Amino acid sequence: MTAALLAAARAAQANAHAPYSRYKVGAALATPDGRVFAGCNVENAAYPSGTCAEAGAIAAMVAAGGRAIAEILVVGDGPEPITPCGNCRQRIREFAMAGTRVHAAGAPGVLASFTLDELLPASFGPQHLPPA
Ligand code: THU
Repeated sequence: MTAALLAAARAAQANAHAPYSRYKVGAALATPDGRVFAGCNVENAAYPSGTCAEAGAIAAMVAAGGRAIAEILVVGDGPEPITPCGNCRQRIREFAMAGTRVHAAGAPGVLASFTLDELLPASFGPQHLPPA
């Protein structure tokens, strides 16, 4: 599955809109039933309005009815692996479990893998809220 996620993330990365940072990012996630959703960063002339690649992949999953991330991968172009920003760690947290694998890739491919709990320990999640 990691190879499929890397291919999907790289395809999305190629379409990233990153004229300001010139740092194109792709993300791809798999749902427990094996569906793959991808996204890229979409920057904006009003800088804070830009969105991360992970946000795009998660939005695509949710729009298709998915509500669980089994595995997720993020890819950038540099020699170092790109890990999700803090905001995106929380976005992933909404739909993942402590042991969900988060793969970090760079130009050479997947360079590191973490569990979500390693990236966002002692996190806040839906379980903390009272039932609606
Ligand atoms: N970026 C992502 O898409 N995901 C991350 O987890 C880290 C950063 C994007 C945001 C911005 O468009 C560019 O990378 C430079 O920060």
